[in-house]
Formats: sequence, C-alpha cells, structure tokens
Amino acid sequence: MSEEINLLSLDLLNRFTHELKDVASLESLQDMHVQYLGKKGSVTDLMKQLGGLATEDRREAGLAINKTKDAIEHALSQRKAELILIEEERRLVQEKIDITLPPRPERMGKIHPISQTMDEIVTIFGEMGFVLAEGPDIESDFHNFTALNIPDDHPARQMHDTFYLPAKEDGTRKVLRTHTSPVQIRTMIKQKPPIRVICPGRTYRCDSDMTHTPMFHQVEGLVIDEYTNMSHLKGCLIDFVRTYFNIPDLKVRFRPSFFPFTEPSAEVDIGCDRSGGELKLGKGHDWLEILGSGMVHPRVLENCGIDSSKYQGFAFGMGIERIAMLKYGIPDLRTFFESDYRWLSHYGFLPEDTPSITGGALR
Ligand code: DAH
Repeated sequence: MSEEINLLSLDLLNRFTHELKDVASLESLQDMHVQYLGKKGSVTDLMKQLGGLATEDRREAGLAINKTKDAIEHALSQRKAELILIEEERRLVQEKIDITLPPRPERMGKIHPISQTMDEIVTIFGEMGFVLAEGPDIESDFHNFTALNIPDDHPARQMHDTFYLPAKEDGTRKVLRTHTSPVQIRTMIKQKPPIRVICPGRTYRCDSDMTHTPMFHQVEGLVIDEYTNMSHLKGCLIDFVRTYFNIPDLKVRFRPSFFPFTEPSAEVDIGCDRSGGELKLGKGHDWLEILGSGMVHPRVLENCGIDSSKYQGFAFGMGIERIAMLKYGIPDLRTFFESDYRWLSHYGFLPEDTPSITGGALR
C-alpha cells in the first residue's frame, strides 16, 4: 500500500515539473500553487490517503509525500523569483524614457584656439617621435633660471619681468615660470639620454599691453643624444613650420641670436609679405620671427648631471598665442582670455576637428 503512494507522489512530481515548464506568468504560477499545494490540491489529496494505511506503512509513505511537497515548494519559489526578475526587466524596457535632448547647434561648446594649437603642435612633433613632458607653473629659481645658465646678476632675469612668490624663511622664493624651458631641466635631471620631449604649458610675465598678457602659453622642445647637431635642428624646425602652416614651400631663415641656455643660438623667421597692410605668410620678401632655438649649452647639460663631452642636442621654444594668431588670423592677443562666447564660437574648433597629420585637420 505504501508503495502505491510512493509511486503516486513520484508521478505527481513528474506531472508538476512538466507543467511548470509552461508557466510564464505569476498568475498561472499562483494557480499551480493552489492546484498542487492548496487545501483541495493534489498533495493534500495524497496526504488524506495516509489515513487508510497501516501505521508501519504510514511513516514511509508520509516521508515520500513530504519529499514531493518540498520539491514542489522549492521549484515554485524558484520559478517565482525568476518570473519577478523577467517581469521587472520587461517593465524597465517598457517604461524607459529618453531624457537626452538633441544638441542645439547655437549652444554647442567649442575648443579654444590655444588648446587646438597645442594639440596640433604636439601631434606634429609626436609624429617625429617626441613625447609629451610637463612641469609645474610654480617653479624654483633654480629650474627657471640658474640651471638654464641664467645666473643671479644676469640681465635676462630683469628681461623676464618675473612674478615672484613671497620669500620663505631661508630667503628662497618661488617664481611663476617665465618660460617653459624649466621643463627641459626637469626632464634632463629625471631622465637619461636619449631624450626627445615636447612641453606645452602656461607661462607668466608681469607685462600687459596690446601684445602681452600676464599669462600666456609656450611650447618647448628638447632633443639630447650622442650625435644630434645643428643640421638636425634645422631640418626638424623647417619640417615643423611647413607642416603647421600647411605651406610646403614656406621660406625659413635661421638668424644668429643669443640665449643663455643655448650655444650657438638661432631665431627662426618665416617668409611673408606685408605689402598693402596685410600679412600674407609664404609670399613676398619680408621675414617674421616665430621661435627661438639653439644647441643646448654644455653648462646646462652639466647642471643636470649629463656628461657634455658625450651628449649634445638642441632645444627650441615658441609662443603659442603668436603662432595661433598667425595661422588663424586672430588680430588681438587679449581676446584669447576675455572668455567672450561670441569670440569663441567664431574662432573655436569643433571637437571632431582633432588634429592629425594625415586627417587634413591641420588646416
Ligand atoms: N625660453 C625662451 C623664451 O622664453 C625661448 C627659447 C629660446 C627656448 C631658445 C629654447 C631655446 O629652448 O633654445 O623666450
């Protein structure tokens, strides 16, 4: 007799498992719950039959029914959890609202010409194998002057119209860097040659008029190894200016000059035409100065712990505003920093104007 009940409860479990597969909603699951476990349900029916069994059979049959009941309860609650999840997901998809707005062209942000120009410069030198290096805006006197072969009494210190920070107890005072050349020093102290870095950044001088702002931007380049000479300097900078201005036959002139940190030194001019009150690059017989350069002074190398009998190289520096104005026809330096929205929407760049040598964005 108990065997019969065993078989019946197994049968019941099979039927249940089979039916459960088709249950796709919480309502039908609830119906199944009633159908199997409810007061008049199949499991209860089986339980009722226990009464008719002999005591010794009752225990065994009772265990079998309970096992089936537990299995059904477990499967029902598992399926319930699954169905709740499915239901939730369905609701999330159904109730999704798109809260984004289409862009309004009149409100679109633009990339500042300074950022764009820096990206262009870094891209061009990046193609030549230079890597980006940066340094702090607040510099020590050592990095900004002394290590660059500009001693205390050197007139170049006055020339730079330096912003000094209040002196510390030991008498030293930091400066707002007057040029990006201290990044050369930091790089050479930190890194063994070969070195090939490009360093754009903010610079500061206590000067303000039509052509000067107290904060402006420069970019510095440095190459140090065992063989780099003046002809490499020339080739590299000629390539740079022709690519940057996108004038393949742009005339370039190297004019002897002086910087304390380079020997020999040269300023670089590009060919232009000033007739008719208008400046045209790459035409005519006039010259326009655009950057400073030279072979790194042996004393500067030694100041950074580099053996000047073994290593040599060149450096250059230029003002970013100046070359941005020349390329993009921006007439007034001060407008760069006025945060005038109309100016920015006129001279600014779209985010997709990412500079690349081959992409044609170096207009
Ligand atoms: N530091 C110079 C300046 O601010 C620019 C410069 C000239 C940097 C020649 C150089 C260089 O590295 O070799 O005017």
